[in-house]
Amino acid sequence: THDTLILGIETSCDDTGVAIVNGAGNLLGESLYSQNIIHLRYGGVNPVIAHELHRENIDKAVQETLRNARINIENIDAVAVTTKPGLLISLQVGVKYARFIANRYHKPIIPIHHMEAHALVARMYSDIPFPFIVLLISGGHCLLSIVNDVDDFLLLGESLDNAPGQILDKAARRMKLRNIPEYSKMAGGRAIEAAAKYVKNPELFKFTSPLLKNRDCNFSFSGFKNSLEKKLFQKESEHNIMGDRVIPEVNDLCAGLQLAIAEHLAVRTERAVLFCEKKNLTSGAHKNIVVSGGVACNDFIFNSIKVIGDKMGYNVIRPPPKVCTDNGIMIAWNGIEKVRKKCELSSTIALSDVDPK
Ligand code: KG4
Ligand code: ZN
Repeated sequence: THDTLILGIETSCDDTGVAIVNGAGNLLGESLYSQNIIHLRYGGVNPVIAHELHRENIDKAVQETLRNARINIENIDAVAVTTKPGLLISLQVGVKYARFIANRYHKPIIPIHHMEAHALVARMYSDIPFPFIVLLISGGHCLLSIVNDVDDFLLLGESLDNAPGQILDKAARRMKLRNIPEYSKMAGGRAIEAAAKYVKNPELFKFTSPLLKNRDCNFSFSGFKNSLEKKLFQKESEHNIMGDRVIPEVNDLCAGLQLAIAEHLAVRTERAVLFCEKKNLTSGAHKNIVVSGGVACNDFIFNSIKVIGDKMGYNVIRPPPKVCTDNGIMIAWNGIEKVRKKCELSSTIALSDVDPK
C-alpha cells in the first residue's frame, strides 16, 4: 500500500547510502556518505579503507535518514539491503546492520541485487512499464539487459574487460586533470566531460572503435586505455612535459576519448535494440531505454544514446543524477517494488548469502 515504509541500505562499493521510500514512491529521507574524494587520491577504490569508512558511517547514515524523514524506526515495514554484487567486506557492513535492525525491531529483510536496483529506480521517477531495455554504465559495471519484471532480467551483453567509468577515472588521473583547480574535486568521468566542453580540435585524437566485427552486445574498453597512453606519451614527449604539467591539447584529448566511449556504447545499444525488435522482446505501446549508473550523468554520452532511441522509436530515460550514482534510494525503491510484487521477504539473511558476483 501507499503507506508502506522501506528503509534501504547500500554499501556495496564506496558509498554508504541510506534512504526511506514509501509505497507511493516518495522519498521521505536519505543520507549519503561518499568516499569518492578519498579514493581519488588512491586512483581506485581501496577495499580496506572502504570497509572502514562504511563501518564508521553506517549508523550515522541510518540515524540521519530517520531524523530527516521524521520516522521512528519502529514504524518501518522492512529493511532492504544490497547483498550482491560488490566488495564482500563492504557488502557485509550493510547486511550486518540490516540484520541488527531486523532482529532488534522484528522487521523482515529484503535482499537486493545492486544492478537490478540501478535499473528499476527509473520507475520511481517516471511511468516505465515492463519490459524495457536498460544500459547500466558505472565505474564497476557495463551491461545491457531487458527488464521483463521486478525479478526477471535477461542479460543481453556486458563488458569483456573494464567498465567505462573505470577507464574515464584512470584516464583523468593519467592526464593529471586533478592538477587543474576547476576539476580537482570531480570524479574522473565528470572532469573529462567538463574538459571536453573546451574542445578546439575534435579531429585531433581519434580512437578506433572496439568489437565492430562482434555480432553480439558485449563491450570492451581496455583498448582505450592503451591508445590513450600512446597519444598522451607522444604529446608529452613532443612538448617535453614531465611531472605535474598537463598537455596543452588536454581538452581535445578528453573530447576524443569521450566521443569514442559514447560511440561504442551507442553502437552496442543499437545492436541490443535491433535484437529486441527482431525477436519481439520489447513489444508494447511504450518502448523505453533506461540509462543508469554513474556514467549516465554524462550528458554527451546520454545524448548519444538518445540519438539511437530517436532513430529506433524508443524513449531514452535516466533517473536524476544523484540517483544514477550509487545511493540508498534505489535500494529502498527496489524493496517497494518487491513488496508490491509480493516477492518473499525473509526474517534474516545469512552472511553466506552475501555474494561479490
Ligand atoms: O555508479 P557509480 O557511483 O559507482 C559505481 O561505479 O558503481 O559510478 C561512478 C562512476 C565513476 O567512474 C565516475 O567517474 C563516473 O561514474 N561518472 C561520470 C560522470 N559522473 C560520474 N562519468 C562520466 N561523466 C560524468 N558526468
Ligand atoms: Zn553502482
